[in-house]
Amino acid sequence: MINFKTEISKKISKVIDIDDKEINSYLEIPKDETMGEYALPCFRLAKELRKSPQNIAEEIKEKLEIDNDSFIEKIENVGGYLNFYIKQDILVKNILEKVDTQKEKYGSSTIGNGKNIVIDYSSPNIAKPFHVGHLRTTVIGAALYNIYKYLGYNVIGINHLGDWGTQFGKIIEGYKRWKDEYDIESDPINELTKIYVRINAACKEDETILEECRNTFKKLENGDEYCQQIWEKFRDLSLKEFQKVYDLLGSKFDSWNGEAFYKDKCKEVIDKLEEKGVLKESDGARIVDLQEKGINTPCIIEKTNGSTTYATRDIAAILYRARTYNFDKAIYVTSYEQTLHFKQIFEVAKLLGLDEKYTNNLIHVPFGMVHLKSGKISTRDGNIIKLEDLLNESIQRAKVIIEEKNPNLENKEDVAKKVGVGAVIFNDLSNSRIKDEIFDWDIILNFQGETGPYVQYTYVRTNSILSSIDKIPTYNEIKVEKLLDKHSIKVLKTINQFNDVLINATEKNEPSFVARYLIELAQNFSSFYNENKIIVEDNDTKNARVYLTKIVGQVLKQGAELLGIEMPERM
Ligand code: ARG
Repeated sequence: MINFKTEISKKISKVIDIDDKEINSYLEIPKDETMGEYALPCFRLAKELRKSPQNIAEEIKEKLEIDNDSFIEKIENVGGYLNFYIKQDILVKNILEKVDTQKEKYGSSTIGNGKNIVIDYSSPNIAKPFHVGHLRTTVIGAALYNIYKYLGYNVIGINHLGDWGTQFGKIIEGYKRWKDEYDIESDPINELTKIYVRINAACKEDETILEECRNTFKKLENGDEYCQQIWEKFRDLSLKEFQKVYDLLGSKFDSWNGEAFYKDKCKEVIDKLEEKGVLKESDGARIVDLQEKGINTPCIIEKTNGSTTYATRDIAAILYRARTYNFDKAIYVTSYEQTLHFKQIFEVAKLLGLDEKYTNNLIHVPFGMVHLKSGKISTRDGNIIKLEDLLNESIQRAKVIIEEKNPNLENKEDVAKKVGVGAVIFNDLSNSRIKDEIFDWDIILNFQGETGPYVQYTYVRTNSILSSIDKIPTYNEIKVEKLLDKHSIKVLKTINQFNDVLINATEKNEPSFVARYLIELAQNFSSFYNENKIIVEDNDTKNARVYLTKIVGQVLKQGAELLGIEMPERM
């Protein structure tokens, strides 16, 4: 097998005396397919070589003599871009060989071996609704988790539950007062939310109630049995509710250590900061001033009443994760609203004297808001949309569509679940994460759009083609020359990019690269399918096209699974 990129880099390196690794990092895959397979943007070398991109391109081109045995067909200089055209039969053979070598692990890699990636995602708050923002972190986090893993990394998925903080003083106090008025067992989160809203209002009216709530949290912190019991009850009830969503999405975590886990680990943080002389008094609270780091808001480490904060617990978690997981990257997936928080805690972690190996690899992965196209999602009691309801509604809607398109389908329930949930996940991942997301049923569930159901539908099409064939050919039976038409090559080139796309997705922590890739592959396959009859007289042509169909299906399925989307076999 030839790694064209590496080989081209080496060839160029030889004639211009620049390290081939550097050249390799500049080589691009041209968007326009008439521009060849690889392009060197020579402006990248202009500074180093003190020549114009145009001259550099000409010079390299002249010096690179192509012998007949080379895999290179031709080299062209287009405006300072040096385009390399690979001989198409060699290219196709090479791609097929690569797919065959890796088999069902195609696209995977060992680049992550020996490296630990911690991903903090989902992390909803106990006794509060699991809202749409939490759906996004759950879905983005899970996709990153799967992609890193597929590239050979050791990945640790952490659900950093919001299960500690002064608000629990309030909820416990409210519960003590009014528990008989609310049906907490049957609808825990909504009922506890109501209590929380009510006690907050009461605190505003009456300082003494607020004081009581503070004391209650103190008691909880000090391990008071009654408070502890109620807290555990809220935690259990909430987790049971969250689990319904996790079951629908197929979410799994390696650790459920939430904020409460760090309650006895904050002292070390405070002591260390004190020792380093960076802890300051401010209105009775203790803070770290970060002005010198260009952050105007100080990080509050200890409140006036001596309680720790969300930030303190997160800093303790950084220490813990560095020690426990020896991470190469620690990733936090939350909405962009928490950007300041993460800037603060990452800076404070540096002040703690933690090794740079860790502090340089703390990564906040922010995402945008979700806007609901109004009136389209049914809501229960006002504004709070239960995610479980949302996913179930998607499943129901998918079922209606399937019922209409394919009334005789077996396992309709199962297919509707895969399509409904897959549609929501894909919608979440299909645009760059920082963009706000518009939630619109008509778009999400459109089988023809750039959607999850479209990718699933394309996969199902590959499947039904294969099931009409007696014997699916193996790699050795394929005649490369039968796959040299424009459409086949386009599909094959897309297949060839799978691993690069996954690597890019981890470099930018951007699962949307994979989602866009799947759309492109599905669309290219559709063009191939529309232009080329698959079941034809000529056996070699048929075999080649069937084989191509098979590997398209394989990559679509693998890619979708990495995003957390299940593929139905029929739909
Ligand atoms: N519980 C937080 C929230 O719902 C998210 C926690 C994110 N993770 C972290 N380590 N701070 O907003």
